[in-house]
Amino acid sequence: MLEGRRVVLGVSGGIAAYKAIEVCRLLVDAGAVVRPVLTEAALRFVTATTFSALASEAARTSLWDGPEPSPHTTLGREADLVVVAPATARLLAAYAVGLSDDLLVATLLATRAPVVVCPAMHTEMWEQPAVQANVATLRQRGVHVVGPAAGPLAGGDVGPGRLVEPAEIVAACASVLGGAGTGALAGLRVLVTAGGTREPLDPVRFLGNRSSGKQGHALADEAAARGARVTLITTAERPVAPGVEVVNVDTAAEMEQAVLAHSDAADVVLMAAAVADFRPRVVAPSKLRRAEGLPEVVLEPTPDILAAVTARRRPGQTLVGFAAEWGDPRPGAAEKLRAKGLDLVVANDVSAPGAGFEHDTNAVTVLSTSGIDLNGGLDDKRAIARAVLDAVLVHRSSS
Ligand code: PMT
Repeated sequence: MLEGRRVVLGVSGGIAAYKAIEVCRLLVDAGAVVRPVLTEAALRFVTATTFSALASEAARTSLWDGPEPSPHTTLGREADLVVVAPATARLLAAYAVGLSDDLLVATLLATRAPVVVCPAMHTEMWEQPAVQANVATLRQRGVHVVGPAAGPLAGGDVGPGRLVEPAEIVAACASVLGGAGTGALAGLRVLVTAGGTREPLDPVRFLGNRSSGKQGHALADEAAARGARVTLITTAERPVAPGVEVVNVDTAAEMEQAVLAHSDAADVVLMAAAVADFRPRVVAPSKLRRAEGLPEVVLEPTPDILAAVTARRRPGQTLVGFAAEWGDPRPGAAEKLRAKGLDLVVANDVSAPGAGFEHDTNAVTVLSTSGIDLNGGLDDKRAIARAVLDAVLVHRSSS
């Protein structure tokens, strides 16, 4: 995917700039023609000479000092892809508001090529609403945001903000360049469910759960980035990658109906939604009033959507369930794999710090009938999505 492709590698000024050296080397190894662009702050962490030597191409560092009259437009126009690793809070802000105060941001603004940004910064900075708003703006404009991962940070801190590993950045570049139809999931239809269902008690109240849809949406985005045709059935109002077909639902019954309408055509079904197991048997037609006394709420089971999908599975279909477990997820996951007739089960211990519902990060154990047994650490949900889809691909190639 990268052979002969012209990739502008932007490096902004954070300690993770040292990892950009490895990104440069891996891109070159993959056959890309790499054009490094370093900001002034990046030069405080790494040298232009290192990138020039690895890329066999002069690293650019300034809008003004090179021989070209308009380096940003040349770089932007000729690029097949621009990747920025690391992308600092300043770089993301400047790009989001269109402030072309250095060669790298000017190049980002001057290109029509796809752009991948890989944020890296301290957790406090990453979680700042200003930074999150800039990232959301860039995502909405179609910029691919890869990471950050969670883990050890400079200075001994631990948390989200770590630059994703160089190999993952290069894989993301390849996947983005692959585009729909040519990635690792090209030709496959992927159905993803996300979010928590809401089971009404009366017209204004419901029984629900804390699922934000982040994990399911990350799966949908990653599957789309790998070339799949993706349908996402979700209760969450979150942005999704362009090209993903979105079906919004609210209750378990609506989700079941939507899933069964799409599952026959799907090659891979990923059930990341937290579907309610019970719902009120009777839904009051008008708002229940305190003055009328305590309502008697009788619960009934919701439809088991996965069981319905399994019952009508066709050969070649890969069914992946999730398991939200409290404590060691393995026993429950193994039981769900067997009882629900799944190919893979992705289990998360939702009692663990930073994992499961609502967090940007997760930690999963993947069990499969073909013997894949992945026990990953805490990582951002997009990285978890990558690991899950890798496991799906391994399973499909071994069965
Ligand atoms: O959305 P986030 O905030 O990012 O959080 C992600 C998550 C924690 C919700 C996700 O990672 C997760 O664990 N999803 C599954 C939650 C769940 O409902 O687990 P369960 O063990 O209760 O259900 C097992 C499987 O059966 C799930 O695939 C579920 O979608 C499915 N199910 C459950 C009930 C039901 N009536 N029908 C179903 O198909």
